[in-house]
Amino acid sequence: MEDKIIVRVANGGDTHYAQTITNEMEASAKARGTGIAKRSPEYVARKMEEGKAVIAVMPDGTWVGFCYIEVWGHESFVANSGLIVAPEFRKSGIAKKIKQRIFNLSREKYPNSKIFGLTTGLAVMKINSDLGYEPVTYSELTDDEEFWAGCKSCVNYDILMSKDRKNCMCTAMLYDPADHQEPKQTSKDFREKSKIYERFMKIKQSRLLRWFRKKEGGNGGAAPIKSKSFFQIFFHL
Ligand SMILES: CC(C)(COP(=O)(O)OP(=O)(O)OC[C@H]1O[C@@H](n2cnc3c(N)ncnc32)[C@H](O)[C@@H]1OP(=O)(O)O)[C@@H](O)C(=O)NCCC(=O)NCCS
Repeated sequence: MEDKIIVRVANGGDTHYAQTITNEMEASAKARGTGIAKRSPEYVARKMEEGKAVIAVMPDGTWVGFCYIEVWGHESFVANSGLIVAPEFRKSGIAKKIKQRIFNLSREKYPNSKIFGLTTGLAVMKINSDLGYEPVTYSELTDDEEFWAGCKSCVNYDILMSKDRKNCMCTAMLYDPADHQEPKQTSKDFREKSKIYERFMKIKQSRLLRWFRKKEGGNGGAAPIKSKSFFQIFFHL
C-alpha cells in the first residue's frame, strides 16, 4: 500500500483536506498529551495555495500526511512545521518521505535560510538527523516574535515564557546551509546517542514541569533545575 502513496507539493486544489488535517493535528496532540502550535484550517489552506506545503495522498484521494513551511526573520530562518501522518499510515516511512520533500522544497525556495524544527518526538528527531539537522539551544533559533507567538496555543507556553524562551519541552534542531555536518554524520551521531537523547528528554520534561509547578506555588516538590545539570551541559543550555 505504501508504495502507492503520492508525496507531492500541495496546491490550491488540496484545500478541502485542511479541516481533516487540523482535526488530526489536534487529536494527535491530545492523544500524546503534548503541546502543539495550533493552526486553523484557513492557515493550512493558505500554505497549500502558496505552494509552501507537502501533502501525501492515496491515488483514490484518501489523505495520508502533511507538513508546511514557515518563514521567519526576513527569510533568515525556515521551519518545517506541523508534520502529521494519519494514524492508519504510520510506521511505514511516510513521515520520512514528507520531511525529505519539504526539506528539498525549503532548500529550493530559501537556499540561504537556516532550517529548524522543535519537537518532543524521537521519531522526528531521527528523521531530522537523517537530513543533517543537529540539536541546538533555543538561542540559536529565530528571535522573530511572531514565531514564538505561535507557541501561545501550546499547553506548555507558560513554561516557555518562565524560562525566558531559553528552554521548554521541545528539543530544537537546526540545519545551517553555511555550516552543517553531512547527513551521514548527524544520522550516525543520532543512532549512537538516541538512548541518551530519549532519557534526557524525559528528564528535562519532568524537571521542567516540576520546576514550573513549584514556581507557580504548586506542590511539585522538586528542586529547580540547577545551573549546570548534566542535561544543560549536554544541550548547551
Ligand atoms: C511522528 C509521526 C509524524 C511519524 O510518522 P511515521 O510515518 O510513522 O514515521 P516514519 O514511519 O517515517 O518513521 C520515521 C523514523 O522514525 C522512527 N519512529 C517512528 N515512530 C517512532 C516512535 N514513536 N519512536 C521512535 N522512533 C519512531 C521509525 O522507526 C523511522 O526510523 P527508521 O528510518 O530508522 O526506520 C507520526 O507518528 C505522527 O503523525 N504523530 C503525531 C503528530 C506528531 O507527533 N508530529 C510531530 C510534531 S513535531
